Amino acid sequence: MQPARLRQAVELAVAHGWLCPDPAAGDRGAAVVVHDLDAVDARLADLRRAAPDDALHAVAIKANPVGGVLDHLARQGVGLEAASKVELLLALRRLPPQRVVFDSPCKTFDDLRLALDRGVLLNLDSLAELDRVVRLLDGGRPPGPVGLRVNPDVGPGAIAATSTAMAGSKFGVELATERDRVIRAFQRWPWLTALHVHVGSQGCSRDQLVAGAQAITSLAGEVRAAGGRVDWLDVGGGLPVDADGVPPDFAAWGQALRDRVPALFQGPHRVVTEMGRSLHAQAGVVLSRVEAVKQSGGRRIAVLHVGADLFVRAAYAPNRWRHRLAVLDPRGIPKQGPRMPWDVVGPLCFSGDRLAKGAQLPPILPGDLVAVHDAGAYTLSMWSRYNSRQAPAVIGLRGERAELLKAAETVEQVAAFWGEGADPRP
Ligand SMILES: Cc1ncc(COP(=O)(O)O)c(C=O)c1O
Repeated sequence: MQPARLRQAVELAVAHGWLCPDPAAGDRGAAVVVHDLDAVDARLADLRRAAPDDALHAVAIKANPVGGVLDHLARQGVGLEAASKVELLLALRRLPPQRVVFDSPCKTFDDLRLALDRGVLLNLDSLAELDRVVRLLDGGRPPGPVGLRVNPDVGPGAIAATSTAMAGSKFGVELATERDRVIRAFQRWPWLTALHVHVGSQGCSRDQLVAGAQAITSLAGEVRAAGGRVDWLDVGGGLPVDADGVPPDFAAWGQALRDRVPALFQGPHRVVTEMGRSLHAQAGVVLSRVEAVKQSGGRRIAVLHVGADLFVRAAYAPNRWRHRLAVLDPRGIPKQGPRMPWDVVGPLCFSGDRLAKGAQLPPILPGDLVAVHDAGAYTLSMWSRYNSRQAPAVIGLRGERAELLKAAETVEQVAAFWGEGADPRP
């Protein structure tokens, strides 16, 4: 988020009482998640321009499931991609089934029944799951399209943990060994009409994403030659996001697809995308009050209200995941002064709860704010319950206005998660 927008975010959040930099405010407004909905819209426009005109852009709910964010996406006319029953229900609450894609890698019979009954685009993860669907349909036809996720093995990206289309991956049907069975399945079941690939989420290059799309497009040709139908080509998500804030290049992705997979843009099929991070990550910033400052072993330490609970990956795998930090005064103005090494730590009871070690930052005082950038995807959706802290509020920015998208969690809500029935306060 640019400094001027960040300052506006601080001013609005403070004016509404959602953010209180002064530690004297106690529990109130210690941290807030800000999501710039205008920035999401700009990225969506980039995505739409890059893809075929009639593509269904099913935004990955897992990247950011906040209700107000999903409402905004629904109003923008896009679809939603769900990866669990609850995500599926969140999508169906807002959208007609024609705009919903269901992709979980671990579906129960109940999940499958729900997806089949409602007629969403149901992407199956294995041939065994296809057998389950055949059993459930019992000779009938589903109201919506059913697809098969395949693994074309385009190799791991820079981050193995988020690469999903490589040898040995738990996702999809391995094309290297099962290609013939996949084609036979499309021949046999006329309601099987979609092919799905998702190469990875962050760490996978544009070339790998294009190779994945290429793999399902040429497979679709083989399926059709064998008498099957492919009405949907779902190329997944995974466009990577730059850690230094350069916006994702949808245009270059679209051009690479046009150059290398022209048939994707010409088919009798509709293209589906499932972008998450590239739409949301840079739209989000987390603002935390600096609650305390201390020195230990000659190190300067600033204690925030967010850490490994909200930035799970950055805390546990700091060499792979990092967030840019900015130190602001209580009005949202960047702090000046000599830069020195600072450890920026979270509120949890373990030493790895740290957002930066030795980061060169200006002087920090209690009551200052630290802005954690690129926090709009895979942050709150990966929230950790460790230490039973309350998840912060989420606010949305639109133009000059801010709205509360999700209130901060209450003590009662956290206690209820642990099975407490009554008010746990003394
Ligand atoms: C099946 C599927 N589609 C889409 C996505 C979204 O990926 P990204 O947020 O990197 O665009 C994911 C992420 O894990 C996924 O598993």
